[in-house]
Amino acid sequence: MDSSGAGCISQNLNILTASMHNSDQMNGSNKIIVTGGTGFIGSHTIVTLQEKGFDVVVIDNLSNSTADILDRIQSITGIRPIFSKIEIRNREAVLDFIDEHQDSAAVVHFAAIKAVGESVEQPAKYYQNNISGLLHILDSCQKYGVDNFIFSSSATVYGQPDVLPVMEETPFQPAINPYGNTKQIGEEIIRDICRSGTSNLQAVSLRYFNPIGAHPSAKIGELPLGIPKNLMPFITQSAAGVRGAIQVFGSDYNTRDGTAIRDYIHVMDVAEAHVVALERLLNGKNENAYEVFNLGTGEGYTVLEVIQSFERTTGLKLDYTLVDRRPGDYEKIFANTDLAAEKLGWKTKYSLDDMTRTAWEWEKQLRGID
Ligand code: WQD
Repeated sequence: MDSSGAGCISQNLNILTASMHNSDQMNGSNKIIVTGGTGFIGSHTIVTLQEKGFDVVVIDNLSNSTADILDRIQSITGIRPIFSKIEIRNREAVLDFIDEHQDSAAVVHFAAIKAVGESVEQPAKYYQNNISGLLHILDSCQKYGVDNFIFSSSATVYGQPDVLPVMEETPFQPAINPYGNTKQIGEEIIRDICRSGTSNLQAVSLRYFNPIGAHPSAKIGELPLGIPKNLMPFITQSAAGVRGAIQVFGSDYNTRDGTAIRDYIHVMDVAEAHVVALERLLNGKNENAYEVFNLGTGEGYTVLEVIQSFERTTGLKLDYTLVDRRPGDYEKIFANTDLAAEKLGWKTKYSLDDMTRTAWEWEKQLRGID
């Protein structure tokens, strides 16, 4: 048997041991429903969940991903998640699925559409999918008694904060786009249900800052369909020759180099935080029925600093031009990470260079570049 075969058996034994441990912890069920699991954050979270011994079932409508991600997940963990192609706007389909998997210990809810610009042009589509879809999931969980819920939220809910770094109790600014509004409304719906006294729902909302990078194996990563709206996939596709020069949106911000600042966080750190938050709920360690945590590094980096990191880690020279600001962008935001550190015992492990390096390794693997 070659070493990889032995390695695979060892990996599976580890997963089996972890699975038995998790089952004990959660009175028998270690099944987790992941909605939107073929997407960027979802796929990386599934790998981490499986490696921790959880049994994962996935629904996705494949509107911004393809099912071959499930084979890629299997190539990492040895386990192909059970998958159903489901539109969360289809209430009956969601009810039937949750009924079939009502023995699940929790739902991790990623399924949403998230293109900020598109949300401005097609707001009804965003409220239909992100709000009605969420309500279908929540109603089904209530009906079939799946009472633990992890919600994929976003730093977009803050808008442009007056004070930085931004803390969880920082009041929301009015959303600057319908996508951000769907995340604000989504959090409020979940919070009110948890606090209603008429539901057993316990939930954690995780507010992601800017997840980038890829799994160290380079077998999964960020792969938006069409022209990337987000910075990192545009950088890697430009470097791969799939796209032209990078447009840097705005060089007149009040920042170190004039370009906008974001709190970039490695997708593996984000995935790990989901499992930690899930285990907090399953082990009854949550202090309230509804909790919120920022998922950021606490560091803000400018667009040019991300470009410089990519050039440093890859040895490549990127082609970019400084152009006007993008409507809807804000100047700077980065997270106060104290609450997640204190309550979850979670801190990020990966640096900006790790993020740009792994993003490029993924792009190279995807495009067959040596
Ligand atoms: C980052 C910075 C751009 C592209 C969005 C969503 C947010 C979350 C993450 C889901 C900004 C600049 C970008 C480009 C550029 N998604 N940029 N050239 O807008 O901070 O957040 O994605 O939860 O909800 O709003 O991320 O990657 O689009 O932009 O200069 O080609 O890069 O102006 O300053 P953003 P982004």
